Amino acid sequence: MKSKKTAVVVGANGVIGSNLISHLESHGDWQIIGLSRRGGTDNGNVKYISVNLLDSEDSKLKLATLTAVTHIFYAAYQDKPTWAELVAPNLAMLVNVVNAIESVAVDLQHISLMQGYKVYGAHYGPFKTPAKENDGGHMPPEFNVDQQQFLEAQQKGKKWGWSAIRPSVVAGTALGNPMNLVLVIAIYASISKELGLPLRFPGKLGAYDKLLDITDAGLLAKATVWAATNPLCANQAFNITNGDLIRWNDLWPKIAAYFKMEVAPPLQMPLTIVMADKLTLWTQMQEKYGLAKHHYSSVSSWPFGDFVFSWDYDFFSDGTKARRMGFHEYVETEKMFFSLFDELKRNGIIPG
Ligand SMILES: NC(=O)c1ccc[n+]([C@@H]2O[C@H](COP(=O)([O-])OP(=O)(O)OC[C@H]3O[C@@H](n4cnc5c(N)ncnc54)[C@H](OP(=O)(O)O)[C@@H]3O)[C@@H](O)[C@H]2O)c1
Repeated sequence: MKSKKTAVVVGANGVIGSNLISHLESHGDWQIIGLSRRGGTDNGNVKYISVNLLDSEDSKLKLATLTAVTHIFYAAYQDKPTWAELVAPNLAMLVNVVNAIESVAVDLQHISLMQGYKVYGAHYGPFKTPAKENDGGHMPPEFNVDQQQFLEAQQKGKKWGWSAIRPSVVAGTALGNPMNLVLVIAIYASISKELGLPLRFPGKLGAYDKLLDITDAGLLAKATVWAATNPLCANQAFNITNGDLIRWNDLWPKIAAYFKMEVAPPLQMPLTIVMADKLTLWTQMQEKYGLAKHHYSSVSSWPFGDFVFSWDYDFFSDGTKARRMGFHEYVETEKMFFSLFDELKRNGIIPG
């Protein structure tokens, strides 16, 4: 019989956290505890705790019973309007959860930290590509870096190890999260189609032909658990990507074909502006096509769409370090988009 490990997934409802939970469940030898403010419905090996991690007292109180935890998978996130404002809440949540669990979990083995290409300054403008894990840092404020520095300091003299996982844009089908490219494209395409429009790339013209890598949330979950359970991976960072590259000018016409739409030349249209007045239309579409009744705001992360479609520079990392160390899975990005759109249709999120 396999020995049971106990995982805490922090950010259980997120596009990353929810896939981590599904992946851990599929192993069969993990007890899983999901943390978030919204909580969830317990099932099988998964138990949910509703906790506000910004509140250190609430964290201590609600997490005091988690004495059996062996692994913490940190994928919580608080969105804020500026890069500087991201630091305080995102650092506080990590500090509160680590302090609360570390003090009671005597057999803690690993803390996994979900990061991203902000570590490489990818959000500011053209950065060195392919980005490597040991590339030099950039001027703070940068919450990912502060979080990693906290873990490095906290780990000194302890028997547990940490890993930092760096995905590109993450593709998954969770709802109600501020960064979800798959939903942006799916809802934008569905509404364009309903209005009888062709599918136009709405981003910067210069973004249409640049190279981009993507990280499938399922692949990311596998890599995250691989790094957290492989002693050779302790105390270091890993870029995790699908393994191929895309250009929108190649993929966009194929996405239009998937939705059975014509494609037209790109036109830069801020989604935050042109999609802001589509709530009524979306509600009518939900009735017309019998869609699940999720509020428009929970299926649309337009600021994130504008952000991703503004990258008029190459945006990719070198993913070979994880491969050299034994993680050999890959995902074909084109197929991934279509299979995630299929899933949105099956779940009644977009018209079939
Ligand atoms: N999404 C991407 O494309 C992407 C790409 C690269 C890197 N990343 C990084 O990956 C990390 C996770 O991102 P994500 O997109 O998965 O985030 P997400 O979908 O927004 O999920 C965030 C999770 O954190 C929970 N949370 C937020 N505030 C909380 C609080 N005060 N107390 C307890 N739980 C709280 C949320 O649940 P409740 O709202 O219920 O509390 C949710 O479960 C971030 O550091 C992000 O920068 C994301």
